[in-house]
Amino acid sequence: MPRYENRESGHECPGRGSRGKAVRVFGWVAGSERLGSLSWLTIHAPGFPAAGPGQFVLLQPEPPACFLPRAFSVAGQRGEEISFLISPVGPGTKQLTNLREHDPVWITGPLGNGFDMDTLLAPPMRRAVLVGGGVGAAPFPLLLDCLATSASGPDLDVLVLLGFRNSSQAEGGQPVRAAAARLAAGGASCRIEIATEDGSIGKARLVTDLLAAEQRQGDRLAVCGPQAMCEAVWQTAREASGLSCWFSLEANMACGVGSCHGCASLRADGSLALVCRDGPVFTGESLYGVGEQE
Ligand SMILES: Cc1cc2nc3c(=O)[nH]c(=O)nc-3n(C[C@H](O)[C@H](O)[C@H](O)COP(=O)(O)OP(=O)(O)OC[C@H]3O[C@@H](n4cnc5c(N)ncnc54)[C@H](O)[C@@H]3O)c2cc1C
Ligand code: FES
Repeated sequence: MPRYENRESGHECPGRGSRGKAVRVFGWVAGSERLGSLSWLTIHAPGFPAAGPGQFVLLQPEPPACFLPRAFSVAGQRGEEISFLISPVGPGTKQLTNLREHDPVWITGPLGNGFDMDTLLAPPMRRAVLVGGGVGAAPFPLLLDCLATSASGPDLDVLVLLGFRNSSQAEGGQPVRAAAARLAAGGASCRIEIATEDGSIGKARLVTDLLAAEQRQGDRLAVCGPQAMCEAVWQTAREASGLSCWFSLEANMACGVGSCHGCASLRADGSLALVCRDGPVFTGESLYGVGEQE
């Protein structure tokens, strides 16, 4: 059975106030599975605190191919086993996806704010919509597992919209499917829709086409993906009234803890945010403003 389907106990999602202090731990690879063009990497990290959905870590194999560690969203956690969905785009990610069982890895985290589940689920919550592009699906298995342990039941309505380049990249959506099935097993309504840009699954379309067709008033959106996709999601979501959106941003990172200012990103009001310290999750309004309708 693939490791992402194997789950003996639920992940106790820490609330914002109770999240553990970040630690730097020397761990080792517990498993690595290819999912099309992406990989599912699991690290055994002794003493690693429970991460919240949308939080990230810095990973650095020992010995490292790159001087700086690389940032990854926590995609799943079962006790001291932490999993990541990784797209091999350069030397750091390629080294990680080529690791074998028992290879040593430094892991620092959990870092950043993550998605605020209390706000996402606050009444009068109607539906949570998770929107991911490519490897931006990474935080969603953990988010769905947190919903399964903290808010499951027949009243919970979740829609997951994933966009991929092609069917090979879409194989990386399997851990999201497995987590959605666990959530649905608890009685919640949870549906997944997938779009591929090249039409290798269904019609050729973008995740924003799915969103435009599906969105309705009162939806709460948790979004993760490339910058251009995030901006397009915001434009699409603004067409439906009463939507709330939270975006998990990516940025080039060095320290991961607010010291180097390498991850600075411009907010709509012109101020600078540090993605690692102030984010990586931001509201749509703070990033993109409310635009012409103002
Ligand atoms: C908070 C956060 C969470 C992330 N979560 C994941 C995840 O779950 N899975 C995953 O595969 N990747 C994730 N990333 C992106 C990942 O950190 C980068 O892909 C990685 O650092 C690239 O390292 P590299 O040495 O392989 O490639 P590099 O040689 O460093 O870069 C290769 C190419 O990717 C671009 N690039 C590098 N870093 C980033 C970045 N952070 N954002 C956008 N483009 C970048 C470079 O400009 C270059 O074109 C995350 C980044 C952040 C900041
Ligand atoms: S990565 Fe150094 S300040 Fe954010």
